[in-house]
Amino acid sequence: MAPELILGPLLRYTGESDATVWVETGAACEVEVLDHRARTFEMEGHHYALVRITDLEPGETFEYAVTLDGEKAWPEEDSRFPPPVIRTVAPESSLTLSFGSCRISMPHEPPYTLPGDASSDGYERDALYALALRMMREPHDTWPDALLLLGDQVYADEVSPGTRDFIRSRRDPDTGPGETVADFEEYTRLYWDSWKDPVVRWLLSTVPSAMIFDDHDVHDDWNTSEAWVRQMRKKWWWEERIVGAFMSYWIYQHLGNLSPRELAEDDLFGKVHEAGDATRILREFAHRADREVAGTRWSYHRDFGNVRLLMLDSRAGRVLEEGQRSMIDAEEWTWIEEKANGDFDHLLFGTSLPLLMAPGLHRLEAWNEAVCAGAWGGPAAKAGEFLRQLIDLEHWSAFHDSFEALANLLRTVASGERSDGEPPASIVVLSGDVHHGYLAEADFGDDAKTPVYQAVCSPMRNPLGLPERLAMRFGWSGLAKRIGMALTRLAGVEEPSFRWHMKHEAPWFDNQVCTLRLEGRGATLEFEKTRPDDPEDPQLHDVFRYRLA
Ligand SMILES: [Fe+2]
Repeated sequence: MAPELILGPLLRYTGESDATVWVETGAACEVEVLDHRARTFEMEGHHYALVRITDLEPGETFEYAVTLDGEKAWPEEDSRFPPPVIRTVAPESSLTLSFGSCRISMPHEPPYTLPGDASSDGYERDALYALALRMMREPHDTWPDALLLLGDQVYADEVSPGTRDFIRSRRDPDTGPGETVADFEEYTRLYWDSWKDPVVRWLLSTVPSAMIFDDHDVHDDWNTSEAWVRQMRKKWWWEERIVGAFMSYWIYQHLGNLSPRELAEDDLFGKVHEAGDATRILREFAHRADREVAGTRWSYHRDFGNVRLLMLDSRAGRVLEEGQRSMIDAEEWTWIEEKANGDFDHLLFGTSLPLLMAPGLHRLEAWNEAVCAGAWGGPAAKAGEFLRQLIDLEHWSAFHDSFEALANLLRTVASGERSDGEPPASIVVLSGDVHHGYLAEADFGDDAKTPVYQAVCSPMRNPLGLPERLAMRFGWSGLAKRIGMALTRLAGVEEPSFRWHMKHEAPWFDNQVCTLRLEGRGATLEFEKTRPDDPEDPQLHDVFRYRLA
């Protein structure tokens, strides 16, 4: 009997002539998609394969099936969904990208929350789920060409009901990490819960996805500061959690971010396949990935015709030593700068953490970084660290030098210094994390020939409570900015080298998804949300539309 398909297929990479399809299977086997085959590799008793498909025609649509050891495993015989397809990139065509972040895995029925949880808010309607339902009703050419999942694809510290039951069934939830993920095995359950829902599973089988982690894929506030890491490493259960986090990220998210060509050159990918059982190799790699900042690059790029997407890892590669803090290590930063050079119609940056935040919040974080580094002396540094961890002061402005370095990179792209011909028609930084959405524009003065935007779309499913919404709104006010300026002045922090402003009245706090449409040198952006009171068939409702270029 052929082994069963546990999770997937996930269509991950799609280029002009190639694609990758990811699966988890119940046993070791050979996986085949469109006449291309891959053997599974084993990881702690789980089996995975990434099928690399090459030699496809650009700009075409290919229906596909998955066979395991020669027997058809997908699509299911009685499937109510359209057949999964691979749509290769056409060099000169338009591009539609949908993006968002922060999607907690919860039931899709009212009250959309954990059974027995008294929270009256609930997690409400899932914007990704609503997007998939709409796609099923519409022809291929209206579908997004790719999905960008910008962090918190899973919440390891706020697990799904199924994972919670699994945890209770295998260990004492009153000790160690409690009802949060303890190890690789529990991660496999969490990913399964997040991606197994038939509607979402269909979506991920037919739209390629690019992903990057944020804190909750590992733990709330992951890598906030040197002190945070020190505290966590003292906990007896932390090593197993962090190793499980990196192993599962590599398998479930990172591998599919890479192109078939990059995979062919990837040392670890090769070793994992040679080993068959990759447990030891991946455990060692995961431990190193946590302990050594340099040497592992999670950032990557994808090209869609003349549009480049640069995905920046703003979590795992942080340098945290006080006084030398950096969002991205030097080696990785050099790679990013190189990849920003070239002639593109549009240049997109993906970073889970927004670069341009509410001006009040921006200065609060910059002030806090200086205080934690000792600007106001030892006792204040301790209080600063407490505050940093309490209210998550860890975005780009809390790594102030990195904030200015990325801003300068954007400035030089916008001024045309990094292109031989025309600079891009638009530069857009796409982010998530903050559980609200907005569009901001940077003002780099007369040198900039290209508009530079920050688009933030978060959450897909996990709305903020009222007190946090009020705090976020206040952050955008003139008063918050003035308070922030007073604080930064007192701590000796320089004002940012440029200004930015929101392109609408106030941020949005719904479950939402954002779609970027690029046509030649034109670009538009569209935010859409779900409504908590939607009936059985949740819809996406217009929030905001804007012409970027
Ligand atoms: Fe989140």
